[in-house]
Amino acid sequence: FNVPAPVNEPILGYAPGSKERELLKAALADARSKQIEIPMYIGVEEVHTEVKGKVTPPHDHQHVLGKYSIGNKNHVKQAIDAALAAKADWENLAWEHRAAIFLKAADLIAGPYRYKLNAATMLGQSKNAYQAEIDSACELIDFLRFNVSYMAEIYKQQPPVSPKGSWNRVEQRPLEGFVFALTPFNFTAIAGNLPTSAAMMGNVVVWKPADTQIFAANVLMQIFREAGLPDGVINLVYVDGPEAGEVIFSHPDFAGIHFTGSTAVFQNIWKTIGNNIHKFKTYPRIVGETGGKDFILVHGSAEPEISSTAIIRGAFEYQGQKCSAASRVYVSKTVWPEIKDLMIRDLATFKMGGTEDFSNFINAVIDEKSFNKLAKYIDEAKQDKSVEIIAGGNYDKSKGYFIEPTVLVVKDPKYTTMCEELFGPVLTIYVYEDKDFDKVLDIIDTTSIYALTGAVIAQDRYAIEKATQRLRNAAGNFYINDKCTGAVVGQQPFGGARGSGTNDKAGSMINLLRWVSPRTIKETF
Ligand code: NAD
Ligand code: ALA
Repeated sequence: FNVPAPVNEPILGYAPGSKERELLKAALADARSKQIEIPMYIGVEEVHTEVKGKVTPPHDHQHVLGKYSIGNKNHVKQAIDAALAAKADWENLAWEHRAAIFLKAADLIAGPYRYKLNAATMLGQSKNAYQAEIDSACELIDFLRFNVSYMAEIYKQQPPVSPKGSWNRVEQRPLEGFVFALTPFNFTAIAGNLPTSAAMMGNVVVWKPADTQIFAANVLMQIFREAGLPDGVINLVYVDGPEAGEVIFSHPDFAGIHFTGSTAVFQNIWKTIGNNIHKFKTYPRIVGETGGKDFILVHGSAEPEISSTAIIRGAFEYQGQKCSAASRVYVSKTVWPEIKDLMIRDLATFKMGGTEDFSNFINAVIDEKSFNKLAKYIDEAKQDKSVEIIAGGNYDKSKGYFIEPTVLVVKDPKYTTMCEELFGPVLTIYVYEDKDFDKVLDIIDTTSIYALTGAVIAQDRYAIEKATQRLRNAAGNFYINDKCTGAVVGQQPFGGARGSGTNDKAGSMINLLRWVSPRTIKETF
């Protein structure tokens, strides 16, 4: 069978007066006007519990959008049992039937569910309409459609050589056991991709999203079910992470983890898996995309307007809460005055507020914990005489968790905010002398544990070449004359190494191959 050749989903513009804007506004109003009860999904059951958590928009934290049922270890055990019960039928279903389910899910998101899912992301995760559209609509649709095409390629790979009198073949088996998908708050597309990419390859999944992502995860599960996903193939639970981990990481049938989130959590999980390795039937697949301290390097030959736009968009879209967000920038002294003026000019035009008002570019950060952490970094910078704050610096959590886009200029390239992941709208800039370009390359490469994304902006080809070579291991996604965010499925496979993950490239055949365990068969005639 051939599957449809995937093309990237076009981005809707939501222009004032457009039909799509009206539909999205209606979906937002509908979601805001109700208080829904959100169940866990275990096998055929929608499970409600007495213990509830609240879903509130980060930009309006007193407004309750819904209440979700909080589960415990027993629910995790039930989810594993439901997954294992569904396994035989699911893995024996011909792959094109599995493909059809995920292609239908993509069509449902592209069609009738687009506004509902975007509205859930806008309200639950405080994304503006454009950021929701490129995440929960376009990127997720692309993940589903491109992954189906990679899946087809895997199943249709050329067999190995078979000398006369024999037939050699390779069977792509699903993993022996279940896969655990742990997803972060910041992308609905990742929430959709992590369980489905493993499931597509015939695996059964227990999925636990971040608490602040549950509003969108609930819509996703409805979409998967409507697309025809059999009960038990993906089971969605809301259980405290470490509590869920206690059950999952000691279960003999645990066969793999598909994780995206912070480096510290992933490292702890890896240690736990290592400590329990004797308990599992098979070595579990460990796939994790983790933190970043992503950089933009601006050379003295750079075009200032391109540089300023790349820095602002890279640093502040979605409040800097993309794993790929630019959070440390190294700018040549030659071009800095002009870039600084452009940045200050553009930042002054940004409006901050709730996502329901489409003119707000900046919305809230995800929760109070993140707000407090960012406010602390800003306060420390204010106390430090060596740091200049050239934009922002204010914050307010009375209605929502709002932090102004803040730009710090530091004299020390090893200043804390140049090295640690902050995950918010706080950007740090170091201005260097042109003669120190080589030294700056060393600094970029050695002052952070991460290696996710990075960019060089320059017109000088020698500078581009030098940065590309010297920073070879400093980023899994490297951009030339562009921002360091916004990888598109099918165009720039995404992922980083070092402290940023196992670099199994989300939305690629590399990733899908992690969810199969090939068996080689030799038959002699
Ligand atoms: P997080 O690590 O706090 O949470 C990720 C998931 O792990 C959530 O579902 C959470 O509930 C769960 N969890 C937390 N502690 C756990 C524990 N001890 N045991 C088991 N599960 C646990 O991450 P987050 O704050 O939701 O997301 C932000 C982080 O994700 C940032 O560090 C960001 O860089 C990273 N991220 C990376 C990528 C990438 O592709 N590299 C993409 C998106 C986000
Ligand atoms: N695809 C997202 C980006 O590159 C993570 O920004």
